[in-house]
Formats: sequence, C-alpha cells, structure tokens
Amino acid sequence: MARTVMNLIFLMLFSTTCCRAYDFTWGLARSVGDTLKPGDILNSSSCLVSASSNFILAFSKPVHLLDTYLCIWRNDSSSTWNANRLRPLLYPQGVLSWDEDGRRLRIIDPAGDPISLFKPSESTDYEISNTSTLMARLLDDGNLVVQELDVYRSTKVLWQSFDSPTDTLLPGMKLGVNRRTRRIWALKSWSTENSPNPGAFSLQWDPYARQLQ
Ligand SMILES: *[C@@H]1O[C@H](CO)[C@@H](O)[C@H](O)[C@H]1NC(C)=O
Ligand SMILES: *[C@@H]1O[C@H](CO)[C@@H](O)[C@H](O)[C@H]1NC(C)=O
Ligand SMILES: *[C@@H]1O[C@H](CO)[C@@H](O)[C@H](O)[C@H]1NC(C)=O
Repeated sequence: MARTVMNLIFLMLFSTTCCRAYDFTWGLARSVGDTLKPGDILNSSSCLVSASSNFILAFSKPVHLLDTYLCIWRNDSSSTWNANRLRPLLYPQGVLSWDEDGRRLRIIDPAGDPISLFKPSESTDYEISNTSTLMARLLDDGNLVVQELDVYRSTKVLWQSFDSPTDTLLPGMKLGVNRRTRRIWALKSWSTENSPNPGAFSLQWDPYARQLQ
C-alpha cells in the first residue's frame, strides 16, 4: 500500500513537471475537426480537437529537443497520451494518415517503417466489411478511437488509445492484466524530465497480490 502511494506521488510529480517540458505547438496548429478520414492527413500544422474542445491531438515537441511525438492534450495543457514515446520523429516531420486502402492508421516515418496505430487484426474472427469506412475520432473524454462506419451495420469501435495507456489515467480507462493473452494495461512514468520515453516507475495491477502497485 505504501508503495502504491509512493508510486502515485512519483507519477503525479512526473506528470506535472514533465508536461511543462513540451512546447505547445498545437497552440499554433489549425483544427481540422475531431475526425481523420481516409485521405485526410494530420501534420505539425494541424490538430484534431474533440467536439467540446476538451482534448487536442497534435504532434508536439519537448523544448530544447528536435523530437516530435503524437500526443493527446487536455485543453488546459497537460498531455495525457503519447503514441510514439519509443520512437520519436524529427520535428516537424510527423504525419498521421490512413494507408491507401483506408484500413491501417499509421504515423509515417521518413526514416523508417511506419508506426502503426491500428491495423485490422488477423487473429480475431471479426472481419471488417468491404462496404465500411474506418475513421479516427478524438472523443471528449480524451479517447482516440477507430470506428467502423457501415450503412449495413451499426458503428463499431475497433481500437482505442485508452487501451495503450501512457502515464495518465483518465476516467473511463482501466488498468489490468488479461491472463489469457497476457496483455497488460499499465501506466509508465517518463524517463527524465525531458524524455517521455518510458521510465522507472509504473503503476499496474498485480494479479497475485491483487492490488495496484
Ligand atoms: C501540413 O500539410 C499542409 C497541407 O498539405 C501543408 O500546407 C503544410 O505545409 C504541412 N505542414 C508541415 C509542417 O509539413
Ligand atoms: C480550449 O477551450 C477554450 C474554451 O472552451 C476554447 O476557446 C479554445 O478554442 C480551446 N482550444 C483549442 C485548441 O481548441
Ligand atoms: C465485397 O465483398 C463481397 C463478398 O464478400 C464481394 O462480392 C464484393 O465484390 C466486394 N465488393 C468490393 C467493392 O470489393
């Protein structure tokens, strides 16, 4: 318990000190609405803004660094999610878009393979209809979702950023472990004040001790 509290305090310290290390590049970026459809691109000059302007998705860069990360920000200025904390790109090169088939959402990296955010899973039985359109939408709770829109079926959420936590737990997000797939949902602090790279502190559910630690 004491450790949980300590970790929480560290996480809070990390998130408050670290977020100031970002340049607010999205403050200059132009809003293109809350949705990214196949054919649309998001780059360092543009941002997605959720319907009630609560959250912003934009390429952002830490002060003094040339790195850029795709982040979700609370409109009051703290970042809540980072899409590429393991693979920063060179500012201002970041581009988020759908592939030609409109089925795979990825960050294009001029120096290497794209960073995939969503691609249809081959391991599930669910098949995306060839009559449907996929869209990425930033919701007012800070969740970036990939939705399947089909005239013949109801809208289905195929992917959500809430399933890849960074260092911030928002209402609606869950931490835990899937024992079958061994998937873990955990928070990880930044490594240093200027680097969102995963650091030494994490908060996750321990299935054996049955507690968050
Ligand atoms: C972003 O895309 C727009 C439209 O294609 C372009 O005018 C602008 O220069 C791009 N910005 C960056 C930073 O690449
Ligand atoms: C943040 O919220 C304020 C007040 O609702 C709004 O005026 C502003 O445009 C929002 N910022 C962005 C980037 O949407
Ligand atoms: C969609 O799939 C159906 C059967 O799965 C096929 O008959 C049809 O030609 C496909 N349509 C397109 C546009 O690919």
